[in-house]
Amino acid sequence: MPLPKAELHLHIEGTLEPELAFELAARNGVTLPYADTEELREAYRFADLQSFLNLYYELMAVLRTERDFEDLANAYLARAAAQGVRHAEIFFDPQAHIGRGVAMGTVVEGLWRALGRSQETHGISTQLIMCFLRDESAESAMETLDAAKPYLDRITGVGLDSAEVGHPPVKFREVYEAAAALGLRRVAHAGEEGPPEYITEALDVLGVERIDHGLRCLEDPALVERLVRDRVPLTLCPLSNVRLRAVDVLEQHPLPAMLDAGLLCTVNSDDPAYFGGYAGDNFDAVRQALGLDEEQLRELARNSFTASFLEHDEERRARYLAEVEAYKFG
Ligand code: ADE
Ligand code: ZN
Repeated sequence: MPLPKAELHLHIEGTLEPELAFELAARNGVTLPYADTEELREAYRFADLQSFLNLYYELMAVLRTERDFEDLANAYLARAAAQGVRHAEIFFDPQAHIGRGVAMGTVVEGLWRALGRSQETHGISTQLIMCFLRDESAESAMETLDAAKPYLDRITGVGLDSAEVGHPPVKFREVYEAAAALGLRRVAHAGEEGPPEYITEALDVLGVERIDHGLRCLEDPALVERLVRDRVPLTLCPLSNVRLRAVDVLEQHPLPAMLDAGLLCTVNSDDPAYFGGYAGDNFDAVRQALGLDEEQLRELARNSFTASFLEHDEERRARYLAEVEAYKFG
């Protein structure tokens, strides 16, 4: 039995496996510029975040109907459940779909067909976090928040993703203020490729409660001290960092140093179909490459539930945390 864990940094579009991409392409009459899954997998060699994003957005062309989003989410949930995920807070990128003529309602209703039943079908509690694409305009982000208003009972929070450098958090001040006024939780990608100043800005200007990635906080000791003091969770994605060249090899990932520094680190999969593994695979990989011991792995699992947005159901959080404490490593 795998270690129970929550996944807090997972882009549902990043769970699109090549096999499902071709199945949906056939179903929807979409032609992909790859002969087969093997040729597509050949394209999974990324130099940086942007080179990944180009493929990530290209493959979204196959996602067209509610059923497509339902199938995508169910495929993820089945894999996540097999790797010990008990709770998932799932990102989606509505602007990447609306821009192709796929309505907000199609995306949310489709995902909800799977998420609304995931406790029963997969044993996973779920939440949705709507991300704004930071390389699109602030006006577009505000329009997206408006388009989401009929679906707010299904959306827990907002996030910020896509190409980071050159798109500082401050660009999205107004839309984050509007999201907060609607009662939405706030997170943002920061310090993946962008500088530590973006992490500080996300906290101070956007009022985020968690930082997605946050790796580059290590360049600013005062920021590390603040993140430790305020117990700001970081949703790290070790396999993603290797594939997108934020770190050279997993053996050099700073996760152990970050844990030693007292940072509230969690381990997540980001875009598992593209980066070589789901949540449990990331745990296994850091255990092997970094020599994490059982107590460090338990700490990461505990942190994932501590950092999750379960304030409306503290009983559930306590149950998950008790499972972590009782877990026996094999
Ligand atoms: N969108 C999907 N994955 C992402 C990542 N790792 N960073 C920024 N935007 C993303
Ligand atoms: Zn991400």
